[in-house]
Amino acid sequence: MNPLREGLAEERVPEPHVMIIFGASGDLTKRKLLPALYSLARERMLPPNFAVVGVARNPFTHEEFREEMKAGCDKYSRRKPVEESVWSDLGPRIYYLEAEFNDPQAYLSLKALLEKIEQERGTPANRLFYFSTPPSVFPMILENLGQAGLISRALSPWTRVIVEKPFGHDLESAQMLNRQLKQVFREAQIYRIDHYLGKETVQNMLTFRFANGMFEPIWNQYHIHHVQITSAESLGMEGRGGYFEEAGILRDMVQNHLFQLLCLVGMEPPVSLDSDAIRDEKVKFLKSLRPIPPEEMERYVVRGQYLAGHVLGETVPGYREEPGVDAASTTETYVALRLLVDNWRWGNVPFFIRAAKRMPKKVTDISILFRNAPVALFRPGGASGGDSGGVSGVVPNVLTIRIQPDEGISLHFGSKIPGPTMDIAPVNMEFRYGTSFGKEPPEAYERLILDAMLGDSTLFIRDDETEASWQFISKIHQWWKASDNRDIPVYPAGSWGPAEAEALPATRNAEWRDS
Ligand code: BG6
Repeated sequence: MNPLREGLAEERVPEPHVMIIFGASGDLTKRKLLPALYSLARERMLPPNFAVVGVARNPFTHEEFREEMKAGCDKYSRRKPVEESVWSDLGPRIYYLEAEFNDPQAYLSLKALLEKIEQERGTPANRLFYFSTPPSVFPMILENLGQAGLISRALSPWTRVIVEKPFGHDLESAQMLNRQLKQVFREAQIYRIDHYLGKETVQNMLTFRFANGMFEPIWNQYHIHHVQITSAESLGMEGRGGYFEEAGILRDMVQNHLFQLLCLVGMEPPVSLDSDAIRDEKVKFLKSLRPIPPEEMERYVVRGQYLAGHVLGETVPGYREEPGVDAASTTETYVALRLLVDNWRWGNVPFFIRAAKRMPKKVTDISILFRNAPVALFRPGGASGGDSGGVSGVVPNVLTIRIQPDEGISLHFGSKIPGPTMDIAPVNMEFRYGTSFGKEPPEAYERLILDAMLGDSTLFIRDDETEASWQFISKIHQWWKASDNRDIPVYPAGSWGPAEAEALPATRNAEWRDS
C-alpha cells in the first residue's frame, strides 16, 4: 500500500522475510543499514520472523558479526546507546556468511543457511537482497545467485533486490546493469536506492507542491526568475579518495541526489501518487532538460578542485594531497551547472545547481527566486513613487526549502521598516520541522528499507529514470575527457568554490546565494 497516498498513520508491517546484505563488512552496513534495522525493530516495524544475513569476505562468526553490528548501532543509531531489550530480540536474528563473491560454492552455503533459518522460523522464502558492494561485482553476484537457484520472479514467495549507488559509471554501464538485472528480475523487484529520497524534507517536496493549492499557480516561468539548488559539504575525502578519483562530484552527488531534487522541483503534477505515476513525471522532466551542445559546455558547466585551506577552524589539505588521490588529478570536487528545461512550464527559467566538498559548511537547499514586481514603485536606493522620497532594501522574493540541516521552509520578502521613511528590510517567514512537529524524523535508510520490505518502489529509481539522468550527465563527462588537457579551476578549502562559477548565475544578472 502506498503510504504517500494512504497517510502514515496506517500500520505498516512487512511480511516475514530474510534480508541478505552482500558487502556486509563495509561501512554502510555498520553506519546505516543495521542502525536503520535497529530503529525499525525498536518501533516494532519489523515482522516477527525477520532475520538478516550478512555476506562478505571477512572471517566473522555469527557472534562476532553481531557484536560488530551492535557496536555500529551504539555509535550511529538515532537513539544511543542500544536498548538491551530491543537488541536481545534483534541480535540473535543476525547471521553471517563468509564468502568470496566469485565462489559458486558460497552461494550454495547461502542457500542452505537461508533454508535453515526459514525452516527454524517457519517463514516463507521471502528474500530481500541488498547489494552493498562495488557495482563491478553485481553481475557476478547475480549470476551466482541465479545458478544457486536463489532468484525467482514469483510473486509469492517474493524475491527483491536493493541496489546501492553508484548505479553505473556512465550511460552505457547503467544500461548494461539494467539489462543484467532485468534478465533475472522483473522491474518491480528491483529497488535502486538513492538515500536522498528517504529524507523527510525531500519527500515533503511532493506534499508542499501537490497538497497545497497556492503554489502551483506561481510555479512557472511567469513568476519564477530562476532556481538554485546547492549541496555543500564541509567534509573532504574521509578516506574515500580512491573511490572519489573514479567518481568525482558529478557522479557522486549530481547524477543521483541533486537530479532527484531537481525532478521534484520541476516535474509536472503526477496523475496519482502511484509509484509509476510519480516516476513517469520525473522521467518526463529529465527528458526535457535541454542538451548542452559540446561547443557551449563551458558556458553551462564549471568544475573545480579544492586546494588546502581552512574549514570550520581547521587547516585541511588540498584534494591532490588526500590519500588515494593522484598528485596531478583533474577529478572535480566542485561542479556547478546551468540547466534549461524545454517545456511549457519552465521555458527560459534557468536552474543553477552546484555540489561541492570542502565548502564552509554543510548545507543542502533549494531556492526559488521569484520575478520582481512588474512595476518598480520602490526603486532600490532611488526615488519611489509618490512623495515618499528614496527607499532602500528592495529584495527579490525567495522561497527556500532547506533539506538539511535546520530542515524547514522559509519565505523571504521585503517589509517596510517601521518609521517615517519607506525603507524596506528583508524579512523571513519560517516553517521549521523541529518546532512544528517536535519529533525526530526517521533516518533516510529506515524509510527506504521499510518501503522495500513492503514492496513500495515509489521512493526508488526506475530503470528509465537512471538512464535519462546518465544520458545528460555522460555528455559532460565525455566533454571533460576530450578536453582533459585544460587546467581545472581551483578554490581554497573553506570557500564557496572557484571564481569561474560566478559566471553561471551572472547570465541572469544573479549571484549564487551563499547558503
Ligand atoms: C553520498 C556520497 O551518496 O552522499 C557522499 O557518496 C556524500 O560523498 C553523501 O557525502 C551526502 O549525504 P548526506 O545525506 O550526508 O547529505
